[in-house]
Amino acid sequence: MQEITQVPPLDLKRQYSPLAKEITAAFTKIFESGGFILGPDVQALEQELAYYVSAKRAIAVTSGTDALWLALKAIDIQPGDQVLTSPFTFFATVSAICNAGATPVFADICPDSFNLSAEKTEEVLKNDRDRKIKAIMPVHLYGQAANMVPILALAERYKLHVIEDACQAIGTHHDKGAVGTLGHLAAFSLFPTKNLGAFGDAGFVTTNDVSLANKTTLLRTHGSTVRYHHEIIGSNCRIDTLQAAILRVLLPKLESWITQRQTAAAYYDENFASLKDIIQTPKRVPYSNHTFHQYTLRVKNGKRNELTEVLTKNKIGNSIYYPIPCHLQKALAHLNLELGSFPESELAANEVLSIPIFPGITQEEQDYVIKTIQNWAK
Ligand SMILES: Cc1ncc(COP(=O)(O)O)c(C=O)c1O
Repeated sequence: MQEITQVPPLDLKRQYSPLAKEITAAFTKIFESGGFILGPDVQALEQELAYYVSAKRAIAVTSGTDALWLALKAIDIQPGDQVLTSPFTFFATVSAICNAGATPVFADICPDSFNLSAEKTEEVLKNDRDRKIKAIMPVHLYGQAANMVPILALAERYKLHVIEDACQAIGTHHDKGAVGTLGHLAAFSLFPTKNLGAFGDAGFVTTNDVSLANKTTLLRTHGSTVRYHHEIIGSNCRIDTLQAAILRVLLPKLESWITQRQTAAAYYDENFASLKDIIQTPKRVPYSNHTFHQYTLRVKNGKRNELTEVLTKNKIGNSIYYPIPCHLQKALAHLNLELGSFPESELAANEVLSIPIFPGITQEEQDYVIKTIQNWAK
C-alpha cells in the first residue's frame, strides 16, 4: 500500500467521480433544452429540497448570502431595525443584515457548541429598551444546531422573527425538528465545499409559511411574477438551471455523505481522547446531531498556531473558521465594539482549528493526521 504523505482539506473530485456519467447527462440535458433560467429542474429541485428538509417550501437561489438577504427582506427588515446574531460566524451572516439596511447586534456564544448563547441573547434583548431588535438570526455552525428551544421562546416573548442561518447545516436534526423548519425562515448555502455543494455558487431558503415563501419567490425575481410588472423591490437571485440539474443528481447521495463524515468524526474522537489536555474534540450538544461540515478542534494553551504550522508542514489541510470574530472586523469599526466585548467568541477565534473531513477520506489518511498530531503533542 502506498504510504500517505499528505491529506487534502477535502476532495470533491473523489466525491463526484462515481457520478460523472449522471452529472454529464444533467449538463447535456440542459445544454440541449436551451432553457438556462428557472424551468422544470429548478421547480423539481425546490420540491426535493423541501422534502429533504421537511419544510413546506424551498426557494432555490444564487447563494447562501442571498438566501439570508431574501429572508430578511421577506420579513420586512427596514433601515433602522436591528438583527441579533452570533459574532462567531462567517461574515456573510452579518453583511446580509447590513445589506438589508439593518444594524447587526451581537450576543456571545456558548463555548461548547460555538453557537449563539440563549442566556446572552436574553441579556441583550432585556437591554433593548427602544425595541429596535426585530429578528434573531441563530447560526448552526459547523453542522450542529443552535439551542433553538430557549431562543424560540425568547423570540415569542419579544415578538421577534427568527431566521436560521443553516448555511453549514443541511441535514442537521434538532430535537424539535430539522434545521430549516424551526424559525420563520432559514437560509442554506450550496457553495461547493458545503455538505451539499453546487458546481459554483447556489443556495436556498426554506419556510413553513406559505405567504413568506411566496414573498421570497417574488423578491428572487425583481419583485415580479408577471413580466415587466413589479409589485415590490426585489433583485435577481435566481439559481442557475444548470446548477439545479446537477444538484438533483447530488442530493440523493447527501445522507450517505453525511454518514461518512460522522464515521470519520467518531474515528478522530476515539484517537484524540488521550490528548484532551491539549486538544478538545468537538463537543456534542444533547439537543442536536452533528453533520460535521467541519471537524473543529480547540487547541489549548495558546498552541493553535504552532499546530497549524505542523499540519501545513506535513501537507495536511487545515483551516481556521474564523480567525477574527465579526465584531472586530474592520468593516464594522463604526459599531465601536472593542476587544473584550464577546470573550467566548474571541477565545474561540484564537483556539479553533479544522482538520480534514470529507466523504471518501480513508482511514489511512486519518491515521496520518492522527499520528502527526500525536507526535506534535508528545
Ligand atoms: C454560516 C454561513 N453563513 C452564510 C454563508 C454564505 O453562503 P454563500 O457562500 O453560499 O453565500 C456561509 C458560507 O460560507 C456560511 O458558512
